[in-house]
Amino acid sequence: MSRPKYSILVVDDDKNICKMIEINLRKTKEYEVRTALNGESCLKAIREEIPDLVLLDIQMPGIDGIETLKRIRDEDPRIPVIMMSAHGTIEKAVQSMKLGAYDFITKPFPADRLLVTVKNALMTSSLKREVDELRTELKKKYHFDNIVGQSGKMQEVFRAMEKIIDSNVTVLIQGESGTGKELIARAIHYQSKRANKPFVAVNCSALPESLLESELFGHERGAFTGATGKRIGKFEVANGGTIFLDEIGLMTQVTQAKLLRVLQEREFERVGGNELVKVDVRVISATNVDLEEAVKNGSFREDLYYRISVFPIKLPPLRERKEDIPLLAAHFLDKFAKQENKNIEGIAPDAMELLMNYHWPGNVRELENAIERAVLLANSNEITPKDLPQNVRAIGERKVYEKESTLSSWIEKLEEEALRQALLECEGNISKTAKKLGIGRATIYRKAKKYGLPMVNK
Ligand SMILES: Nc1ncnc2c1ncn2[C@@H]1O[C@H](COP(=O)(O)OP(=O)(O)OP(=O)(O)O)[C@@H](O)[C@H]1O
Ligand SMILES: [Mg+2]
Repeated sequence: MSRPKYSILVVDDDKNICKMIEINLRKTKEYEVRTALNGESCLKAIREEIPDLVLLDIQMPGIDGIETLKRIRDEDPRIPVIMMSAHGTIEKAVQSMKLGAYDFITKPFPADRLLVTVKNALMTSSLKREVDELRTELKKKYHFDNIVGQSGKMQEVFRAMEKIIDSNVTVLIQGESGTGKELIARAIHYQSKRANKPFVAVNCSALPESLLESELFGHERGAFTGATGKRIGKFEVANGGTIFLDEIGLMTQVTQAKLLRVLQEREFERVGGNELVKVDVRVISATNVDLEEAVKNGSFREDLYYRISVFPIKLPPLRERKEDIPLLAAHFLDKFAKQENKNIEGIAPDAMELLMNYHWPGNVRELENAIERAVLLANSNEITPKDLPQNVRAIGERKVYEKESTLSSWIEKLEEEALRQALLECEGNISKTAKKLGIGRATIYRKAKKYGLPMVNK
């Protein structure tokens, strides 16, 4: 099957030029070509069917190329337009670039020049479309709706997030491992005005000091052994967007000092360079170590701590918001059942009880993994205890045991009390007590001994 052809609309008031371009494009067998002789019929053709690209002459009677370009952009700003300028219209060509034309080509042009320009424009525009689609996907994925949490504590987190979405305030997210720090950071970015710019995550604990510095700020050629070329750092990549500094508590003192300067001045130098680089980046940091403690013991700079924690968000561990467990479990069940193409409708009550009783040291991530595994193992249309990991089941078994043992100690207490009372009434006489309670003598003797009750062996 041949791949679908791109459709190109050629607009020029000179019929011969239209024909010449059409022939050259068709020769490649990659393009469908339509032609229009003026701005009006160009717009009409676009309304009938949106082309993948427009080749547009600048000088035309009636509405000229510049005006037509403006109207095309009103119609659909994503169509790439290549302007064709004749001698003397070069200024207009430049003006059209400012209005969003993709490129311009000066007449007369050789066929191969035309073909290269068209090919490049189509490639760029399809890449742009792809990026747009991926961005839309990401925005959907990191929508607040996909962050599960009914508990008061999580509702508080959502309210806090809403307050700072559109500001540039520096955010510090604190929480145990697996509580959703990165998810929250991404959601803040993808719901903010910066959403169309990059979200760049850097794990500050994963790299040794020298490498982390060049990772964050880039380096000039020859800055250190092995720096064979210039490299831009994550701060520059994130320009206009958000940088996520994960595990910031593990950053060394030297890097802390450099980061402090970026936060204060929004500028820095690449490692081994002296050119000042200015950036507009929102900083979100995350940590699962207690930073206040780290400040107290001197391993984290106090001034930096205040800079990064302008707006702190604390994510509670899952064991402190157990009411979210059923919701999260249902959310993950839905996700993995779809992914695995399995028809699992729910979680059996005894399995849910186990999930509720477990203390989840790995928080939401651990729950997510447990449900993923359960979905793979399940062989009925619901998750049952046997599908859950051993440690989750073990907690449940212990609970049952604890429940049983408290029950039996209660029974023992009642038994002891009844026996004490009966022995008292029968003045410690075992035979009389046995008769009274309708229990054998041997049993009374054994139990009285067990509870240390006074008796007279008669
Ligand atoms: N409230 C939530 N709703 C839905 N999914 C969640 C929620 N919280 C966490 N998750 C999911 O749990 C997993 C762990 O979350 P995340 O990676 O954000 O945690 P973290 O705090 O950064 O962990 P770590 O400290 O180990 O890096 C992710 O797959 C995330 O999508
Ligand atoms: Mg994380």
